[in-house]
Amino acid sequence: MDTRKIKKRGFQTPTGMRDILPEDQRYYQKIYDIVENIAKFYGFEKIDTPILEEAELFARGVGTTTDIVEKQMYTLRTKGGDWLALRPEGTAPVCRAYIQHGMQNLPQPIKLWYFAPFFRYEHSQAGRFRQFWQFGFETLGEQSAAIDAQIIQIFYNIFRELKFKDLTIEINSIGDSQCRPYFKKLLVSYFRHRESSLCSDCKRRLRANPLRILDCKEEKCQRIKSQSPQIIDHLCEECHNHFKEVLEFLDELELPYQLNPYLVRGLDYYTKTVFEVFTSSENPAAKEKASPEKPVSQEEAVQAKNALAGGGRYDALMKILGGKITPACGGAAGIERIIEVLKIKSPLAAKSNQAKIFLAQLGGLAKRKSAKLFEIFYQENIPVAESFGRDSLKAQLRIADKLGVKYSLILGQKEALDKTVIIRDMASGKQETVKMEKVAREMKRKIKK
Ligand code: HAM
Repeated sequence: MDTRKIKKRGFQTPTGMRDILPEDQRYYQKIYDIVENIAKFYGFEKIDTPILEEAELFARGVGTTTDIVEKQMYTLRTKGGDWLALRPEGTAPVCRAYIQHGMQNLPQPIKLWYFAPFFRYEHSQAGRFRQFWQFGFETLGEQSAAIDAQIIQIFYNIFRELKFKDLTIEINSIGDSQCRPYFKKLLVSYFRHRESSLCSDCKRRLRANPLRILDCKEEKCQRIKSQSPQIIDHLCEECHNHFKEVLEFLDELELPYQLNPYLVRGLDYYTKTVFEVFTSSENPAAKEKASPEKPVSQEEAVQAKNALAGGGRYDALMKILGGKITPACGGAAGIERIIEVLKIKSPLAAKSNQAKIFLAQLGGLAKRKSAKLFEIFYQENIPVAESFGRDSLKAQLRIADKLGVKYSLILGQKEALDKTVIIRDMASGKQETVKMEKVAREMKRKIKK
């Protein structure tokens, strides 16, 4: 550890991780409320899984040759010798929970949702954090194409409720174990003949995970990619029919989708349907950076195109993780990315103080009595503001003014001894004195008016 560096700049959050300060909490809360409501409507139940899981869960589930497992996992060895990982995503843990708790014995499908922090050791850039929040929906134990469409509809509805406009859903089918191996062969053969023109990452992908070449964002690979074979032309009958049905549902639901034959996603567990959701205000950070003198370069624009949400079907995952064959489909959205757009498009106003009453005190005894009185208001569920740290009455009333409360309660030495309280109407300046035991009831009556 470089203690000199810490001494010089003080302690900071680790790179790519952020505090969620009070002014940002309302964004998370708003998204949470919308997601929770929609989850209830569509019959999803909430699940929380641990932040740490066995690293092997992701190696097997997400895939050893994916960026997430190969480069981005935070792993640690416990004192007891277990090899754990800070979860980089939520689908493998949900499947682990499904198997561990015997959910296959319950009526199917099992529909679960989550709202939680995840961790990936990413290069720090706009929209990419090392700790980020996702909400996700997973439907386990159902193979119907109606489910794929419902998952997409859920994300679409959430973004619509957040007032996002110009939403686009990109969709593709990446086949299954029947048709994908053959397509992979075709792809490898196509790219092998053009290997010298591929970027260095894609040269590696050609051996390890050729499908990922289709997802490459490097300028260099775009042209070669654009003429490569497309999986859609090589789906087996089952995958073809499933995809056709999903698209028919989307048409019926009037969801604005675009076919993207290069969409393969960065996780290995997908079969058949994959999708991502974008808004055309994709990357506010890149847009802000752009100016008439310095427009965003094409490369920046490509890199900047961050998905708000992504997901798909993963019919083979449960078996890979040691469970029974269980068809499943789901998706997850990045909350920080949503907030970035929200802040630009429709920033939330700070919540005004709910309290209509301010409790002011003067002197040691009065301060103790007001602490007691404050608790009485808590018991009665009447919101009250206070400034117990201040001694001057003038300073306290100034705060009451700023908060815009209707009434201030004033307790001085005399009132504390007499067991009374002064009620001051802030607008008229009129004051009255009431018995302390009656003040809560009296204030309830007054603020009800
Ligand atoms: P994912 O595409 O890796 O999928 O992540 C889902 C969303 O999380 C992305 O669309 C993005 O908005 C957000 N996200 C991902 N990485 C970061 C990051 N470093 N910083 C900020 N936001 C990020 C999954 O995680 C799958 N488990 C989704 C899924 C659920 N598939 C089926 N069920």
